[in-house]
Amino acid sequence: MPNSTLIQKYNVPGPRYTSYPTVPYWNEDSIDENSWKQSIKKSFDESNSSKGISLYLHLPFCESLCTFCACHKYITKRHELETPYIETLLAEWQLYLQQFDKKPLLKELHLGGGTPTFFEVENLELMIKTILKTVDLHRDFEFSFEGHPNNTTKEHLQALYNLGFTRVSYGVQDYSEKIQKAINRKQSFEDVKNVTQWARDIGYTSISHDLIFGLPFQTINDIIDTIKKTKELKPERISFYSYAHVPWIKGVGQRGFKDSDIPNGDAKRKLYEMGKHMLLNLGYIETGMDHFALPTDSLSRAFKDANMHRNFMGYTTNPTQLMIGLGMSAISDSWYSFSQNEKTLKAYQDQIEKGVLPLLKGHLLTEEDLIIRKHILNIMCHFKTSWKNDNMKFKELPETLGRLKELEKDGLVVILDDELIIPENARAFVRNICMAFDLRMVRNKPNTKLFSLTV
Ligand SMILES: C[S@@+](CC[C@H](N)C(=O)[O-])C[C@H]1O[C@@H](n2cnc3c(N)ncnc32)[C@H](O)[C@@H]1O
Ligand code: SF4
Repeated sequence: MPNSTLIQKYNVPGPRYTSYPTVPYWNEDSIDENSWKQSIKKSFDESNSSKGISLYLHLPFCESLCTFCACHKYITKRHELETPYIETLLAEWQLYLQQFDKKPLLKELHLGGGTPTFFEVENLELMIKTILKTVDLHRDFEFSFEGHPNNTTKEHLQALYNLGFTRVSYGVQDYSEKIQKAINRKQSFEDVKNVTQWARDIGYTSISHDLIFGLPFQTINDIIDTIKKTKELKPERISFYSYAHVPWIKGVGQRGFKDSDIPNGDAKRKLYEMGKHMLLNLGYIETGMDHFALPTDSLSRAFKDANMHRNFMGYTTNPTQLMIGLGMSAISDSWYSFSQNEKTLKAYQDQIEKGVLPLLKGHLLTEEDLIIRKHILNIMCHFKTSWKNDNMKFKELPETLGRLKELEKDGLVVILDDELIIPENARAFVRNICMAFDLRMVRNKPNTKLFSLTV
């Protein structure tokens, strides 16, 4: 089947699988504050002393709204919000510490947003130093943060480096002025060059750029130009995201352009193919959906050694069993269950003031969920999975195989006796392949829009 026919057939709404079950399919009645606490305690007791834990700190503030953005953010210029926010986040951390008998062994710390570099250097330092006093550090700890090229300063980079940060990712998206105007994000190559160079000079070992294909007005020439510029800076990692157009979730946020300004289907796929082709030619390795890394980077090595993991932060080389997300809207994962914090600043702060974990919703994974989750993780992280072992078989495997046969006919998977492999040229359809395993979605087809298009 020619590629464009495949795209027409498979370009359907589908999750990005940062979790299984995906958030809209969580059974919210399956968990409450007490069972969530039991679940994190169990996970902590099982894994803290060996693997350590991950912490994700959500810092939601941004000074202005980029109109393509699907992240949980809070637009404000009021920097006086920083201190109360950090105090609340630290109070939340104290509530978690009360659940543990031992000091947490911190393996991974990530500051995401919103825009972590919205915060004053001193405030970030205070927040991280306070947390570091309460934990031991794993010998292979890794600290990373998301920086906005327009407000990351040398001081931010140096202070965070002094605290142990060695990885930074910068939002770049696209260098075209027309696109930047449409998405309300003015940002010059010079700024990106400066922040990249400063990070390198200071000693950061892994610098990542976020690029997006499928933005309004984006053409093949924009992709070529953006990747040529990216080549000059040679970041160790590149996230090459598919633009997720989700105005029904993000409401008035995703505006400044019309739906007809957004490249779709075949046109969008061509943007991806051009970007991927150029990145591979530059020596990057495709290390999972949307992600590329230089062969020397730890993500490439982890991909080769099948040691990568995917969670709400995206791909990571640090597979921990317990990830605690602190801050407004942050998601946590105890392996046995998920939870998400209140999504508005006020509700989040009110709950912490009352001394309760600010949980909005969660999900306790069933035995079946746990098996399917492993298959989906395998597919997303290694482009293959296997049900050789009994602990990877689930009741509805024959039905799942039936759905996979259809994908096999179209050349998107190769099914052997008890394993499945995604050929190189079908990697763009990885979300569709995961959907064949997603029994929660199969059993309960959505009748409203939940997800962006897969292609
Ligand atoms: C929290 S932001 C990055 C940090 C910082 N706020 C910035 O903008 O530079 C994380 C990344 O998510 C990606 N992103 C946000 N909205 C998206 C969307 N609708 N579709 C695809 N990627 C998106 C962007 O590439 C963005 O750089
Ligand atoms: S892309 Fe970054 S700076 Fe822009 S609104 Fe989203 S989180 Fe904020």
